[in-house]
Amino acid sequence: MATNALEEIRSASPAILPSFLRCDFGDLSGELSRLGEAGAQVLHLDVMDGHFVPNLTYGMPIVEGLRKHTNLPIDVHLMISDPLAYAKPMVDAGADLLTFHIESVSPEKALDVAGAIRDLGVAVGIALNPETPLSTITQCLPHVDMALVMSVEAGFGGQQFNPIALEKLRSLRQSCPDLLLQIDGGIDPSTIHSARQAGCDLFVVGSAIFNHQDYGKAFRELESAMHGDGSNQGING
Ligand code: DX5
Ligand code: ZN
Repeated sequence: MATNALEEIRSASPAILPSFLRCDFGDLSGELSRLGEAGAQVLHLDVMDGHFVPNLTYGMPIVEGLRKHTNLPIDVHLMISDPLAYAKPMVDAGADLLTFHIESVSPEKALDVAGAIRDLGVAVGIALNPETPLSTITQCLPHVDMALVMSVEAGFGGQQFNPIALEKLRSLRQSCPDLLLQIDGGIDPSTIHSARQAGCDLFVVGSAIFNHQDYGKAFRELESAMHGDGSNQGING
């Protein structure tokens, strides 16, 4: 299941991943069908514990609920202090890819956490916040399927894009040509092109989809900006 899901994610790339942070939680199956019609191929779920980040979202029941209504790969972004405590319950709930933050574990433990997640039979990602140096994840890179470069401090949607992420993407793309690279935070038609140019594969988007009346239009605007010539680019990296 996870291997197939990882292949699906790879073959969907470059892909726009809607973030389930600003969606209508009262109508999740409606949101799923609107996003599917708009062209979503992978879903991004933001799990926050009110401890690792000062915001609280949801846990396994939402993952499980979505899993029942979709075959799309589910990418779970764990913004929690103890990723291993919830890794198995998340996999049982239907997650295909689990990403944990390097800031949530000690550097010595990061490799064990990545290995333990892989042992559960799913793909694993490692995330880092804008102020965290890339050197903190270097030794993990051969043991993960994806690196998530945060372009805002993890915790809230609707924040402004930090171009420090572009340098990290470029450096990762150069050192790990085959690693999946994801960016998350402040991605919209003015920032997506520079992230693509920097080598990114997966673009997590909250506000620029969910603030839009028409998700299909939001996807088309993002895709055309991503593949375009950068003329609507607001951020230079
Ligand atoms: C922030 C979350 C993001 C967030 C992105 O900590 O990880 O996935 O939903 O939202 P926007 O696109 O509004 O920055
Ligand atoms: Zn996220």
